[in-house]
Amino acid sequence: MNQNIQNLDEWFPRDAQGKPILTTPDQNYLGVVVGGSLSRGLQIRLERAQSVEDLAVGRYVVIHGEQKRFFCMLTDIELNTANIGIQNDPPDMSDPFLRDIYTGTVAYGIIHVALMLSIDEDNTPKPVKTIPAHFTRAYNATEKDVNDVFGHEDDIHFNVGVPLELEQTQINLDLRRLVERSVGVFGKSGTGKSFLTRVLLSGIISRGQAVNLIFDMHNDYGWQITSENGYHVKGLRQLFPANVSIITLDPESSRRRKASYDFEVKLPFSEIEPFDLEGLKSTMDLSDTMIDAAYTLRSVWDKKWISRLLEGRAEDLEYIQEHTNIPGGTMLALQRRLERFQRWEFLTNEPVEDSVQRIIHLLVDEEKSVVLEFGKYGNSLEAYMLVANYITRRIHEKYVEKVDKSLGDPSHEPPQLLIVIEEAHKFLDPRVASQTIFGVIARELRKYKVTLLVVDQRPSQIDEEVMSQIGTRVTALLDNERDIHAVLNGVSGAGGLREVLARLDTKQQAIIMGHAVPMPVVVRTRAYDEDFYKAILAGSPVRSNGDDARKSLGKGGKKRV
Ligand SMILES: Nc1ncnc2c1ncn2[C@@H]1O[C@H](COP(=O)(O)OP(=O)(O)O)[C@@H](O)[C@H]1O
Ligand SMILES: [Mg+2]
Repeated sequence: MNQNIQNLDEWFPRDAQGKPILTTPDQNYLGVVVGGSLSRGLQIRLERAQSVEDLAVGRYVVIHGEQKRFFCMLTDIELNTANIGIQNDPPDMSDPFLRDIYTGTVAYGIIHVALMLSIDEDNTPKPVKTIPAHFTRAYNATEKDVNDVFGHEDDIHFNVGVPLELEQTQINLDLRRLVERSVGVFGKSGTGKSFLTRVLLSGIISRGQAVNLIFDMHNDYGWQITSENGYHVKGLRQLFPANVSIITLDPESSRRRKASYDFEVKLPFSEIEPFDLEGLKSTMDLSDTMIDAAYTLRSVWDKKWISRLLEGRAEDLEYIQEHTNIPGGTMLALQRRLERFQRWEFLTNEPVEDSVQRIIHLLVDEEKSVVLEFGKYGNSLEAYMLVANYITRRIHEKYVEKVDKSLGDPSHEPPQLLIVIEEAHKFLDPRVASQTIFGVIARELRKYKVTLLVVDQRPSQIDEEVMSQIGTRVTALLDNERDIHAVLNGVSGAGGLREVLARLDTKQQAIIMGHAVPMPVVVRTRAYDEDFYKAILAGSPVRSNGDDARKSLGKGGKKRV
């Protein structure tokens, strides 16, 4: 008799309080597929022991089909009942017996998942073209699942953070693929765009995957950055003194911050072309007739067109009146718009050493990344855009020339160049994108080895065609509906990600999707801190929490459900 009871207990195990344990032994088991489609995603009916409260959107779910594993992202959660009547007349949940009967049977949870990728028996990730059958079992992704998709850190793959709820593993970006097409880092102000961009650039520099030219509007990249909470973090020059050079438009600001810069950038008025102004049309309120006038002046006065316009000598103006069709009013309006150039000390009429030539030398011959600090000029969008347009146009010319000359021989090609701009929508606004150098670069793809890393909080204001050329999109929290739509537009499998994107944490969380990852992923971004510097400098894939994912994997690691 006694014996029998013991056996029964083995069949129906009880917890410390003597209550029957109803879970299946596998804590990761979520439930079974009960419906859905390839395009709209699948519905999974939750196992009764699974608490809906623990399931956050954005986490990975793996469905174990007969021949393959399907990787999905949780996009929505729903409470459902098998009996409509129960909604009008809920059972008495204070009775534990009734509660046990109802929960998970008549009333149950449904999770919605988007299909992202499948892995078959030979372990190669492939796009999903089929779906699992009814009642196939679904599980929380394990460390092994994630590692099978995101691989390990090496010369090309770089750890950017951990996936949701799977702290024991990491997400590795393919840096080669990252830099060969343009990259977007999006998110509201304060979500961690600058921190994340520094993490990405550190990876690219440490792995030598590209040289970077950073138009550093707010002194965020070169030297000693103060975070929102007042603590200091290192700039890229401090992390990679041999591979990064700082140059400055405002030497006083750089000196004050003790940033060791290589040289002060001076640009001669004579080198600025009307083309450099085209992208500033909306920012400087320049009309099309003013731009036409600029081209005319350029052809009459040659390289002196800006200085002579600003000088405004009576006989010069008369000459223009008589010999061109520029209306007098337009001429004066253009003159007034360009007057602000005179306040910018980096623009000069003196003959100066060619700063752009020096930048090209640093990038191409020394293979160094260059951070251009704007100092006080970072507050002037016009100054930022003029300088970025001008320098980028000249560097791009040089790159086109070099790549064409190399005749496809990679050993003669210049290094892959990534140009970083902030407030990117101002450069890539639909009204100007077709006429600016940044629009040209975004559209010509990787042909000339120059790509963009655009940092922006208003992706909806970026030209749609340019957006479609952004290969990898890294998106922190966005709350504007149009911005969310703009980043998800054109990404396959992104339909269900809307809810995920709108519910990211306000800091240090992002969805990465596109060219550099096998499937969209939500990450808690790696902290940019002392541990990060150490790991980067050691060149080894040490993670900031000091755990070794692979070691804990072997021991089964602590699983979070
Ligand atoms: N990866 C990160 N590591 C450490 N701190 C971070 C990280 N991401 C964000 N933060 C915190 O969030 C604040 C805002 O980040 P920041 O990059 O300046 O935002 P944004 O550029 O989007 O306005 C930082 O000052 C920092 O305290
Ligand atoms: Mg910022």
